[in-house]
Amino acid sequence: PYRIAVFASGQGSNFQALLDASRAGGLGGAEIVLLVSDKPQAPVVERARTAGVDAFVFQPKAYARREDYEAEIAAELEERQVDLVVLAGYMRLLTAVLVDRYAGRMINIHPSLLPAFPGKDAIGQAREYGVKVTGVTVHLVDGGMDTGAVVAQTAVPLLPGDRIESLEERIHQAEKELYPQVVTWFAEGRIAVEGRKVTVKSV
Ligand code: GAR
Repeated sequence: PYRIAVFASGQGSNFQALLDASRAGGLGGAEIVLLVSDKPQAPVVERARTAGVDAFVFQPKAYARREDYEAEIAAELEERQVDLVVLAGYMRLLTAVLVDRYAGRMINIHPSLLPAFPGKDAIGQAREYGVKVTGVTVHLVDGGMDTGAVVAQTAVPLLPGDRIESLEERIHQAEKELYPQVVTWFAEGRIAVEGRKVTVKSV
């Protein structure tokens, strides 16, 4: 099967959506073979345990440099012959150790319509700015902060009277639909990358 690793630091609602889709046979045959987390106490780690998914959990503070733990992660990925790395709320920048090795095979989901509102708290940033439409972006990962080529986007409206919670809920719903779709395209071999131009081939 097509083998994916999910990197996550938090709740893991995207991890769960991908896992559920995979186990229902709905991820183009893709299987989650590893969770990588930099937060031993994160709920996502417990989700992986409950589901019987292997987890590589580490403490960044235990390493002198990012490259050192990334080399260990790379070894875990290689051992499992991972085809696609899926960042889902992994709140750390990656170095060339992983970015170069998985160029074109590593994706991230971000809760805004990039290039608007990169970085932390994108949902809060969009609300603060007063935009009427925001959304969700899936992009290839490069060395920058949310700067890689865009693979797919979904627009999400801000509604009159929206509270931060209701907007977050709508964004997370959009993520749950978009991310499994994009992973399916990768698993089906339908993604073509030419520089910043990413296209989905029809089957
Ligand atoms: C998601 O909304 C994701 O888009 C965001 O973190 C959340 C993780 O939720 N990622 C970023 O902000 C990356 N800059 P989850 O742990 O429930 O999947």
